[in-house]
Amino acid sequence: MSFTLPPNTLYPQGTKLSDETFQLLRKYIYERTGIFFADNKKYLLESRVGRRLSALRLESFPEYYSALLNGIGAGELPHLINSVTINETFFFRNDPQFIALETLILPELIKKRIEQGNYNIKIWSAASSTGEEPYTIALLIREKFQARYPAVKFEIVGTDINTQVLEVARRGAYKEYSIRNIPRLYMDKYFEPHGDQFILRDEIKKMVRFNQMNLFDRGMMKTMQNFDVVFAANVLIYFDFNSKQVVVSSIYDSLNKGGYFFVGYSETLYGLTQAFKPVHYDKAIAYRKE
Ligand SMILES: C[S@@+](CC[C@H](N)C(=O)[O-])C[C@H]1O[C@@H](n2cnc3c(N)ncnc32)[C@H](O)[C@@H]1O
Repeated sequence: MSFTLPPNTLYPQGTKLSDETFQLLRKYIYERTGIFFADNKKYLLESRVGRRLSALRLESFPEYYSALLNGIGAGELPHLINSVTINETFFFRNDPQFIALETLILPELIKKRIEQGNYNIKIWSAASSTGEEPYTIALLIREKFQARYPAVKFEIVGTDINTQVLEVARRGAYKEYSIRNIPRLYMDKYFEPHGDQFILRDEIKKMVRFNQMNLFDRGMMKTMQNFDVVFAANVLIYFDFNSKQVVVSSIYDSLNKGGYFFVGYSETLYGLTQAFKPVHYDKAIAYRKE
């Protein structure tokens, strides 16, 4: 099977995704990722999966679905997931969250750790996409905390289900769109302009480890333990009520007692779980595991 055609090659003209195949494909994706395509998102699935038809030189969506079930499934799943996820992100995306992290949460955690004589602080960007969110955290820690607290070890992990965005994250080269919110100080100190890109310096890249992780996979999620802060921002919106509950419950288990959980600006845990205590900051909410 060939994967060599460019991803934006058009799938055969006139190929339409029927309601029946839409239902089958969305169930297939949902069961493996928790991502739910509502009826009004059919057009999105049609165009995204259409790229896979082109790449595999298949003629129709039912043919693609049969191929998924009969043979190419295991190898094709990552390609399918890479095609259907929405990966929009940028540095300092939700600034009030990072202000709360810098001015209140990290100072509290550092103080606690020093008192306990345990100098590890673990932070997880759980839907990191191309890396802007975990690198924002790394920039803050580098600039504001590392020199002041040399004994404290900050571990930052970025994970995503999409293997392509993780490759981009590891490269650490960004365009104007991604860097538009970065304060001047950080741009001057930690980025190197190169053509139309801005390359993140190695000292920051080295602070973040990237791995693939499916938030909907309870087994995989059990390997993520003892985190002090988890960001799962702008990802719950792609799940339905059931998959949100599964993901949020796994994240709860991944957090230390007293650890903090951030979701996106337009997302909430209200109505999903009462396991966390909401902590209100200026224009931001974190959910604390009591
Ligand atoms: C819109 S981006 C959010 C990026 C960043 N957190 C932010 O707020 O800017 C959503 C990310 O969630 C990832 N994603 C979707 N479903 C996932 C799952 N089941 N497990 C892990 N990541 C998932 C997508 O691949 C995508 O990169």
